[in-house]
Amino acid sequence: MSRYRVAVVGATGAVGTVMLRKLGERKFPAAEIVPFASERSAGRVLDGGLTVQPLTEETIQGFDLALFSAGATTSGEWAPRFVSAGAVVVDNSSRFRRDPEIPLVVAEVNPEALDGHRGLIANPNCSTMQLMVALKPIHATAGIERLIVSTYQSVSGTGVKAVAELTEQTRRVLEGEPPGEPAVYPHPIAFNVLGGAGNFPDGDDHTDEERKMMFETRKILGDDAIGISVTCARVPVIASHSESINVQTREPLSPEDARELLRAAPGITVVDDPATHGYPTAIAAAGHDDVFVGRIRRDPSHERALNLWVVSDNLLKGAATNAVQLAEVLDARGLIGARAGATA
Ligand SMILES: NC(=O)c1ccc[n+]([C@@H]2O[C@H](COP(=O)([O-])OP(=O)(O)OC[C@H]3O[C@@H](n4cnc5c(N)ncnc54)[C@H](OP(=O)(O)O)[C@@H]3O)[C@@H](O)[C@H]2O)c1
Repeated sequence: MSRYRVAVVGATGAVGTVMLRKLGERKFPAAEIVPFASERSAGRVLDGGLTVQPLTEETIQGFDLALFSAGATTSGEWAPRFVSAGAVVVDNSSRFRRDPEIPLVVAEVNPEALDGHRGLIANPNCSTMQLMVALKPIHATAGIERLIVSTYQSVSGTGVKAVAELTEQTRRVLEGEPPGEPAVYPHPIAFNVLGGAGNFPDGDDHTDEERKMMFETRKILGDDAIGISVTCARVPVIASHSESINVQTREPLSPEDARELLRAAPGITVVDDPATHGYPTAIAAAGHDDVFVGRIRRDPSHERALNLWVVSDNLLKGAATNAVQLAEVLDARGLIGARAGATA
């Protein structure tokens, strides 16, 4: 079996921390794991004893695989350099997802897109990820004509500073103080719901988060004809994104058949028992790799539409777990580069 030299870039962040843990938990065949972060963190010793390295032309040499979660700017600058130095890069940022030459892959949904990669692979946006896992079996069986999605996204999706902001504002409000000036979000997040998760670039009336879901859904399912309408909201929840999904299929599909399809699909746990209030919740999903699906029911206003409630841990399947799963598929298919067998 090959054993790889693996770089984790953004190792001190919300996703990077979980990525390091997942590589160990899933026993990825790593001969060595090297954490990277910004200059600010260089030299810091992480739990587990690894020392954070700065990104330099010297430190990035000799890797087989690099898992990036350090933001789009860092990916744009450093991911191609890792590739030039011989590594395969799985990138969590939005930097390369729209490039038609770069595969955008969910492990259970379109692993075949990894074949023929050119060194760079994009991990989808966290909200899109769980949507794709839930919709793939429906798309494959009945086709999808139109989607209407509303998200309820946790603050860990924005990173460690957002978790700190929610925690601090919550503490202040509970102690009878004003929440203080927000720094990460445009409004206070504690005890609030923000109806536009993400940013509104260049006068757009949709947020970048909403645009990502519309674009990435079509690319991953390989179906440009799907109509998609998205509203992304940020809620004061630490972990797990929740989504209300209205899916209009091309062929008829009953809620019963949809439930069976979803039960049989990889990476999904169905929790759907209205009589006992059985449906997925953010807290119940946190810490689990699966995508949880419930509230599977007919949309009473349309004979070919179903409603679903889909919840998943954004730091796990939404980011770190999928990145490590992609590394596993790359390994299984012998797609980790020329040096892959060198340390076998
Ligand atoms: N959070 C999620 O659920 C999620 C899901 C999917 C994708 N993503 C994507 O993953 C990326 C990271 O997100 P996150 O939530 O983990 O953010 P985060 O908690 O803010 O962590 C950012 C990480 O990037 C590092 N970094 C920042 N600037 C750097 C630079 N110039 N050079 C090297 N490293 C640098 C930071 O290092 P320091 O500690 O030294 O500053 C830290 O390790 C983003 O692109 C995000 O869009 C996040």
